[in-house]
Amino acid sequence: MKIGMLTGGGDCPGLNAVIRAVVRKGIFTYEDEFVGFMEGWRGVIEDRSMPLTLDAVGGILPRGGTILRTSRTNPSKRHDGIDRCMVSLEKNHMDALIAIGGDDTLSVAQKLHERGAKVVGVPKTIDNDLGGTDYTFGFDTACNIVCEALDRVHTTAEAHNRVMVVEVMGRDAGWIALYSGIAGGADVILIPERPFDIDKVADSIHQRHERGRYFSIVVVAEGAKFSSEPGQGSPVLQDMGKDEFGHVKLGGIANILAREIEKRTGFETRAVVLGHIQRGGSPSAFDRVLATRYGLGAIDMVHRGEFGCMAALRSNKIVSIPLLEAISRNRTVDNEMIQIVDGLFEKSAEKEEEPA
Ligand code: F6P
Repeated sequence: MKIGMLTGGGDCPGLNAVIRAVVRKGIFTYEDEFVGFMEGWRGVIEDRSMPLTLDAVGGILPRGGTILRTSRTNPSKRHDGIDRCMVSLEKNHMDALIAIGGDDTLSVAQKLHERGAKVVGVPKTIDNDLGGTDYTFGFDTACNIVCEALDRVHTTAEAHNRVMVVEVMGRDAGWIALYSGIAGGADVILIPERPFDIDKVADSIHQRHERGRYFSIVVVAEGAKFSSEPGQGSPVLQDMGKDEFGHVKLGGIANILAREIEKRTGFETRAVVLGHIQRGGSPSAFDRVLATRYGLGAIDMVHRGEFGCMAALRSNKIVSIPLLEAISRNRTVDNEMIQIVDGLFEKSAEKEEEPA
């Protein structure tokens, strides 16, 4: 078979591991031929691709980013975008296409599938919030990076008797904040699923310091929301711009939070924004294995004719699920998980709130 591949949306450690696994198994087991479309859907629209040979995927397993590069191009927002994708797939004699991406990229894959393209999806996002799968690759690496940062922030917070507010990625879901916060011993964890009351956050920090501690670490997801002033229940934005999928640019909550905590507690407070450092660099061993398993699953799905489907991890098995199931809902942090974590803190900052 002649198979196309692309990576779309925000990059994610492990993308190259997926590409490598697909190409190796495709060539060794099925004698396939591969072409990689450049920069996500932009490469399909503009018909820009590169051959993906065994040589091309040699040595890429530990590399971050993606050799195919990526973009947030949305064909549905371009004139004749979906039609141009169909023409390009036909012109390149593609028997199948493997789209590696999050809900945005996979929603385009679903549209092409509805038009008759033979598409298989692979789930990708460091936010770990894609529906239908237990884990996405890249999440573990991001958590390791944040955990290491928290260890470092701890020592400087302790040296200066400070409160440190660390802002991490997580647009709609607080998985990174929650997992890295637990692993890094945070004192307060704030996630988008549960708008928080700033007075309660300040109270809990006060309580801890009254108990004799003289520094605190707050981990906040970029998409977390104040339940009252000053954020009024909406996330903090960097600017009013939106990408082609309609996403706003989040960022800046740590600075506001630091200011409000200092005002209320009198404790010196600093903000740290980890940003794209969380997405950069080499994938963890866990993500290399998970990404490889997804890649092997996806190429088998192509040869079983399971189109319009996505490789998913369920109870540690790679299975095939409809793309529609994956893109129909975000997988946010559930109430049960939040309650378990609440038990870690002597007085949770927002214990009485119900998840949104
Ligand atoms: O891919 C998800 C994500 O990492 C979000 O957590 C974050 O809000 C967004 O991407 C940042 O996107 P960009 O790279 O376009 O700034």
